[in-house]
Amino acid sequence: MNAPESTYTQVAWPAKVNEIPKDIFDREDVYQLELEKIFYGPEWHAVAHAGEIPNPGDFKTINVGERPILVVRGDDGEIRTFYNACSHRGNLLETRVTGNAAEFECPYHRWLFDTRGALRGAPGDEDFSPSFCKEEMGVPTIRSTEYLGLIFVTCSDKTPDIETYLGRTKDALAITLNGDGRLKLLGYQKVLYDVNWKAYADNDGYHAPLLHAAFKLLNWQGGEGEQYGTENGHIGFESELKVPEDTGFLNDPSLLHFKGTESSKGSAIASIFPVTVITKHMDMINIRFAFPRGVGSTEVHYGYFAHVDDDEEMVRHRIRQSSNMLGPTGLVSMEDASIFSRIHRGNHTPGNVAFQKGVKHEDRIWYDFKQNDEAGNLPRWEHYRKSMGFNREEA
Ligand code: FES
Ligand SMILES: [Fe+2]
Repeated sequence: MNAPESTYTQVAWPAKVNEIPKDIFDREDVYQLELEKIFYGPEWHAVAHAGEIPNPGDFKTINVGERPILVVRGDDGEIRTFYNACSHRGNLLETRVTGNAAEFECPYHRWLFDTRGALRGAPGDEDFSPSFCKEEMGVPTIRSTEYLGLIFVTCSDKTPDIETYLGRTKDALAITLNGDGRLKLLGYQKVLYDVNWKAYADNDGYHAPLLHAAFKLLNWQGGEGEQYGTENGHIGFESELKVPEDTGFLNDPSLLHFKGTESSKGSAIASIFPVTVITKHMDMINIRFAFPRGVGSTEVHYGYFAHVDDDEEMVRHRIRQSSNMLGPTGLVSMEDASIFSRIHRGNHTPGNVAFQKGVKHEDRIWYDFKQNDEAGNLPRWEHYRKSMGFNREEA
């Protein structure tokens, strides 16, 4: 029998709102509880954008926590979401990450499903149990919703509707998805970071100009902007991004030109709890689908997009900008990978970490921040703590 929750998930959570206990980044029992309370709890998880699967039969696979998910555009054009498991004995139905299929055949006993998830045939079904009903044996579905083309799923029937759930971050999301969310996929960069998912998601506004050498080399500078949190752990960031004057660092400074974006809306981030990050910097539209691979590993699929109305030149510009600037090898982000693995190793030490930049209060949470405040992450930590049922120690 499993131990009662309370006997194995005690965490000494500090009294100050800007302090986080380090042991939550490497404890297996905490990770198992996160799967239950967060990944399979009342949260929406972005698993796809409609622009990734534009044609009938297009599909992608991904995880929510450790549960495999299959997203398919059916032969009728409708997008449906399933658990990626055969309805017979639970074999993983599709192993490819993306593709196009006319049907899905499970290799174990050759049950065959159509692109709408219905069971079309099962060998030897004349000998099946008396209550077997083919119509009820489709691929198991998972609750889903769509917002600006983003497909979200949730394992819980208690999760509120998506607009309520996103709250104020709808504003940042609209900017990042180029207004109307009518996107087409340019390609992916996929990476496995040696870091707990929470430290990956804890990337902050304070570090960017300090860690990333290219900020200086390119004269990459923000301007007017704001950062805001929501009670349920999301973060929105909207800022001007000044067109950098040529510093001579690039052979071709046109890499940094704004072609389809106002400089005043040059930088936006929607960070949706627990682990989805959607960004638009300059003309780069980037959705980062992520999921934990155990307590010390996080898989991230950086999806890059263009707008469906872009001409060929604009598409080429977005590809050049995206592949040079962002992702695990991007000029303004490449150092993050080494920090992720270093912070994971460093966090295997006792005690708490303390956020400092932008911390106005130590005894309560607030929601408006300056762009470079690391304190912008505190509302999401508060939502995490409450979701997990961890109590603060007395001050
Ligand atoms: S597990 Fe899929 S056909 Fe048996
Ligand atoms: Fe970074």
